[in-house]
Amino acid sequence: MASKFGIFLLAFYMITAASAAGSIYQNIDLTWGDGRGKILNNGQLLTLSLDKSSGSGFQSKNQYLFGKVDMDLKLVPGNSAGTVTTYYLSSQGATHDEIDLEFLGNVTGQPYTLHTNIFSQGKGGREQQFRLWFDPTTDFHTYSILWNPQSIIISVDGTPVREFKNMQTAGVPYPNNQPMRAYSSLWDAEDWATQGGRVKTDWSKAPFTATYRNYNANACVWTNGQSSCHGSTPVASWMNQQLDATSQKRMQWVQKNYMIYNYCTDFQRFPQGLPVECKA
Ligand SMILES: *[C@@H]1O[C@H](CO)[C@@H](O)[C@H](O)[C@H]1NC(C)=O
Repeated sequence: MASKFGIFLLAFYMITAASAAGSIYQNIDLTWGDGRGKILNNGQLLTLSLDKSSGSGFQSKNQYLFGKVDMDLKLVPGNSAGTVTTYYLSSQGATHDEIDLEFLGNVTGQPYTLHTNIFSQGKGGREQQFRLWFDPTTDFHTYSILWNPQSIIISVDGTPVREFKNMQTAGVPYPNNQPMRAYSSLWDAEDWATQGGRVKTDWSKAPFTATYRNYNANACVWTNGQSSCHGSTPVASWMNQQLDATSQKRMQWVQKNYMIYNYCTDFQRFPQGLPVECKA
């Protein structure tokens, strides 16, 4: 009896270990940075680092056409001024689509900026920026991009901060026919990133390191012009997910208290009138 139970436990342990340990190796390729990106702890942790000569980056092995991509990030601690940690989905080419999160570092004790943008058919200019309601450098927090045919929703620890609805019927191009990969990078943008470039990177603190775990793509994988979701029933729940009343309220709370820039209220920038999607 005891040994049977032991074997059962061992099998259970092996199954859980396999799914957890394989995840980053299975999903992600380190793409640049010449050893500055590292996959650690048997594939459970990834770090990107930046020094004076280079940053580093990774991308998902798969391309997706719709999905929900979650990842836990712990950002560069201490004096991170000038550093930019990006996390985005993007397709290729001049008329590419892109869903963008960029974390702009700051001097010790001053807040990061979460900069977001959405490109459709090569056109961006849809910036919204936020403060976070926690210190993103002391712990992991989950940053999610939900992308389905109805809307794009960016969430932080499950709280939606931004929604971009499909308004194709009003003439706003919507990303829905170009497969995208997930990307992340850590690089230096001291010329503009921190307080408009007035604060430079303190290279004596290098290398700067951001840490990642729990990459999770619930997504339709796109291979050779075919979606893995094609013909699948039932359709995954995220595919039809919309903001319910509670989520709407939480998003409003974030936007009221933590949004520091919104292109949709930047009348100076759009003297001829705000973009169509802002008028909804
Ligand atoms: C850095 O901190 C300053 C002062 O609190 C703030 O004005 C600025 O927006 C912060 N973020 C960046 C990216 O500079």
